[in-house]
Amino acid sequence: MVAAGAKPAGAADENSAAQAVRQMFNSIAPRYDLLNHLLSANVDRLWWRRTARRFEEILAKPDAAILDICCGTGDMTMALLKLRPHGARPIVAADFARAMLSRGAQKVSGRAAVMLEADALHLPLRSASLDLVVTAFGFRNLANYEAGLQEFHRVLKPGGQLGILDFSEPGGLVGKAYAVYFRRVLPAIGRLVSGPAQGNKDDAYRYLPASVGAFPAPPAMLRLMSAAGYTECAWQPYTFGIAGLYTAMRPPVV
Ligand SMILES: C[S@@+](CC[C@H](N)C(=O)[O-])C[C@H]1O[C@@H](n2cnc3c(N)ncnc32)[C@H](O)[C@@H]1O
Repeated sequence: MVAAGAKPAGAADENSAAQAVRQMFNSIAPRYDLLNHLLSANVDRLWWRRTARRFEEILAKPDAAILDICCGTGDMTMALLKLRPHGARPIVAADFARAMLSRGAQKVSGRAAVMLEADALHLPLRSASLDLVVTAFGFRNLANYEAGLQEFHRVLKPGGQLGILDFSEPGGLVGKAYAVYFRRVLPAIGRLVSGPAQGNKDDAYRYLPASVGAFPAPPAMLRLMSAAGYTECAWQPYTFGIAGLYTAMRPPVV
């Protein structure tokens, strides 16, 4: 069965799920970058760079309209910015957790990016206005995956591209070893770095493995993307399939 969207513990419906996710990211924002790099041994930097390179043709166009949604503290935005030419149109970097967004704003300060406080499921952007929508480790947190894919489809121009970078659960031996790390070691390190268990923060470390486990596996995710009207839907595994990049296009008008 395909999961409909993220369900943090105790969330009864989509609204309360989104609220819990927002609160959780606001509460872990001060430690987010440190934890991210520590827990992924800095491999996350490679994933952001690799994702940006996949879209280098679009990024090289000065007029391209680009959205990094669920931008958080701005690392995906930074990787995208590195491939933008001088004087290019600013990238819109959006997130609904203000504490994450304000850290992102500091990181991209002085570069061609504008920050926007916005919900991925209700983007304050015109239909058919974007050449590229990218989201890194954010999509899995949406309260409704189908609604997210539809909203990205709405704001993309015909022929516009979508990139969704997120975790997945690898199979085989790597998968087994990774499951131990992800479900046991990672939450323990998270708690150590952030101090003793404290409401939201403690929930965050349990939520991460739970949300990856509940996220549709690649074949199901690709079906969701096709059903939302995308073509050229594909998944490229990164680092033994621990993470991966979904790509798709809003079909051009013929
Ligand atoms: C794991 S962080 C990823 C941040 C960044 N993209 C990165 O790669 O480090 C997920 C982000 O998604 C944001 N997010 C989750 N659901 C969202 C929604 N419905 N609308 C906007 N942002 C959302 C959270 O606030 C959080 O900042």
